[in-house]
Amino acid sequence: MYNSKITGLGYYVPDNVVTNEDLSKMMDTNDAWIQERTGIKERRWIQEGSEDTSAVMGAKASRIAIERAGLTPKDIDFIVFATLSPDYYFPGCGVQIQEMLEMRTVGAVDIRNQCSGFVYAMSVADQFIKTGMYKNILVIGSEFHSGGLDKTTRGRGVSVIFGDGAGAAVLSRTEDNTKGILSSHLHSEGKHAEELTVLAPSIRHWVPKILEENDENDESYFPYMNGTFVFKHAVVRFSEAIVEGLKTNNLQAADINMLIPHQANLRISQFVQKKFKLTDDQVFNNIQKYGNTTAASVIIALTEAWEKGKIKDNDLVVLAAFGSGFTWGSVIMRW
Ligand code: UT7
Repeated sequence: MYNSKITGLGYYVPDNVVTNEDLSKMMDTNDAWIQERTGIKERRWIQEGSEDTSAVMGAKASRIAIERAGLTPKDIDFIVFATLSPDYYFPGCGVQIQEMLEMRTVGAVDIRNQCSGFVYAMSVADQFIKTGMYKNILVIGSEFHSGGLDKTTRGRGVSVIFGDGAGAAVLSRTEDNTKGILSSHLHSEGKHAEELTVLAPSIRHWVPKILEENDENDESYFPYMNGTFVFKHAVVRFSEAIVEGLKTNNLQAADINMLIPHQANLRISQFVQKKFKLTDDQVFNNIQKYGNTTAASVIIALTEAWEKGKIKDNDLVVLAAFGSGFTWGSVIMRW
């Protein structure tokens, strides 16, 4: 059995900064409400007409990660792409990365697990490396939310939270079993699927009928979130996933050098930090700058924390996420 270890990290966010003040010109909201409830000050939204999409941003982040791993795209054996906002209804974005990076005709899989997408993606990649099937896997989280948000007052409970961006990691084989991913833990509870969802487009909704009706009041194309309900579940599941990961490896919360929580809401991160009695140096947040970028949030935060020198050799790094599905999980790594 091999272990898998991160050998390269990269992220990309669009240039266009949208502040809370900018949002207050589009809808009935304000900076004080957004900061107090979520911690967000600004987010990046792709400008209309830009070349950026989930796949394009994913490719930009990937090029950085692959170069930092000391590899070329030809060295990558498999692609795992996590997104809830793919460029096409199908196929997934993974195949676009194969093309954009001029890679060999390697396998590509898309992960549809929303905010916990990157944690799921890392776990999937880890299994392929552990079994010896692949040596270097490109793991991507990328989201283009802004093209699909309801930017009127009707959608303010959701649209002020989400941002665009992408991150990528190269996961590589190591023979040192004390390093890299020690364990990963994945969960789901589908009975809450409609508490955080985009209902359409879906074949289930009979596309010709939708087009015929062309009802401008149809909200099913916009994200819906029962925010308070999701929040209550998030704080419980985040904690469970972290405890499960620590227990599996006979570790304590005090052993964590860096917790990278999915950037859903600064209040959720702060709740988790307090519960596990972690210091500010043990938790990394950047939701203030980027909002919630769902499948991209953990990998963007991990990359930024690493770039700032906050993650060192031998550190215990914990990734944890919760989101639509509901799905949640954690990854425990020795750096
Ligand atoms: O990433 C995947 C997982 N997602 C999460 O974990 C998100 C979890 N949920 C949350 O982060 C929070 O529930 C939200 C930030 C989404 C909302 O915060 P909240 O404290 O739960 O607010 P609320 O939905 O209970 O709304 C409170 C009030 C309402 O007005 P009334 O009914 O009290 O008069 C809303 O209409 O705030 C109003 N409101 C807003 N006001 C100004 C909702 N959105 C806005 C807004 N600006 N953008």
